[in-house]
Amino acid sequence: MDSQSTLYIGTIIHSLALGKLEVLEKGAIVVGTNGVIEKVVEAAQVATLKKSSSINVVDLGHRLIIPGFVDGHVHAPQYSFVGTGMELPLLDWLNKYTFPSEAKFKDPVYARSQYRTAVARFLTNGTTTASYFATIHLESTKILADIVHEVGQRGIIGKVNMDRNSPDFLVETTSQSIKDTKEFVAHVLGKRDPLVQPVITPRFVPSTSSKLMTSLGEISASHDPKIRVQSHLSENKNEIKWVGEMHPECGSYADVYNQHGLLHERSYMAHCIWCSYGERELLRDKGVGIIHCPNSNFSLSSGALNVRRMLDEGLKVGLGSDVAGGFSPSMLDALRQSITASKMVSIGQGSDGDDLESPTAGIGSIKQYEALSYAEAFHLATVGGAECLSLGDTVGNFLPGKDFDALIIDPKVEGSPVDVFEGDSSLDIFQRFLFLGDDRNIEQVFVAGKNRKTQKLRDMLAAS
Ligand code: GUN
Ligand code: ZN
Repeated sequence: MDSQSTLYIGTIIHSLALGKLEVLEKGAIVVGTNGVIEKVVEAAQVATLKKSSSINVVDLGHRLIIPGFVDGHVHAPQYSFVGTGMELPLLDWLNKYTFPSEAKFKDPVYARSQYRTAVARFLTNGTTTASYFATIHLESTKILADIVHEVGQRGIIGKVNMDRNSPDFLVETTSQSIKDTKEFVAHVLGKRDPLVQPVITPRFVPSTSSKLMTSLGEISASHDPKIRVQSHLSENKNEIKWVGEMHPECGSYADVYNQHGLLHERSYMAHCIWCSYGERELLRDKGVGIIHCPNSNFSLSSGALNVRRMLDEGLKVGLGSDVAGGFSPSMLDALRQSITASKMVSIGQGSDGDDLESPTAGIGSIKQYEALSYAEAFHLATVGGAECLSLGDTVGNFLPGKDFDALIIDPKVEGSPVDVFEGDSSLDIFQRFLFLGDDRNIEQVFVAGKNRKTQKLRDMLAAS
């Protein structure tokens, strides 16, 4: 313990493995001045620790202490039209709403004001870690990184790459795209903020030429550790058909990324709804994370991912809001909708039509897939996301040595959407928060040991 460690006392709930929650009633977490968790103790040991003169004691009473949420896939500029225009499927939606909205981010003044609101909104909802897509624009993407740094969120930020099949008002040349990506990576690494990291972000195969994809793979591999890579994969059937026409030399959509050096253990791909057995094997063998974005998958009528199959096959899975294909900035919504998507699959309404490609295929081999439990969905929203983003040693739960990224949940806050009944267990209250709660219940948002839900953050939202 260092001289000024802090002891946070409350009911601690975190996930140790898929579906395995640990609950410590009136337990405590000891956090060092560097924001790192020193130890987690049960109620019986709290009194002894409290006596130590060198420790700050913060008694959170009836509140829950849970890990912060990890949003593995979110488009910060798309928050500017969140909740509107979701009546179209992916490719039409991109052309009609998304590209014109993202084009406005050429203007850094506009970008700053939009990004301040978006980042504040995600953080206030308990997203302690976010993997952001920005736009193609270098200056405004730097501004996004600067804002994430200022508010103290843990953020992985990508300058989007688009050099083909894109409208005149939202396209870059291949050479400019490469140059700007390198400059952006240098800008973020130069800040020397361990909370803010760059990520290579080809929008998706249709908008990124072979030459550009190859160069991006090289940029990623030229750093040690490799710069992370994020993109979209197998979201929509027309998109997949288009990719097949564009790349007949590749065996599958996933193989296109692979052949351009973009699939490795620090890559993660959103959606993957329609990935074949062979693609899933490739993703697993390369250590690529799957970011499941159920709200977006329903909103853009893309499909319902068979998440259980991904988990059974040993793939890494996290969750994403995919704002603004998804309409909610809250990972509580992603968690709830991941359960709904898994229930659709379990009743035979999901994307398990490619079962016949599995090696065990044959008459009578149609499998039943079990829906996600709330504990499993919570695992994906915390530990699963952290693992996909190569942050599994840093965040996701409260194991000693990880950073204290945590939410303080007050189920009894004035105006709470969560009711607490006599006789409720901590797990009853926790579940009710997961299904009914919102940002009103999220009293404090810790990232690396500091509460970031400050008056300044509230002012940022009030000013928007
Ligand atoms: N595929 C390519 N771009 C996008 C995007 O902005 N959102 C979603 N959901 N899918 C995409
Ligand atoms: Zn997306």
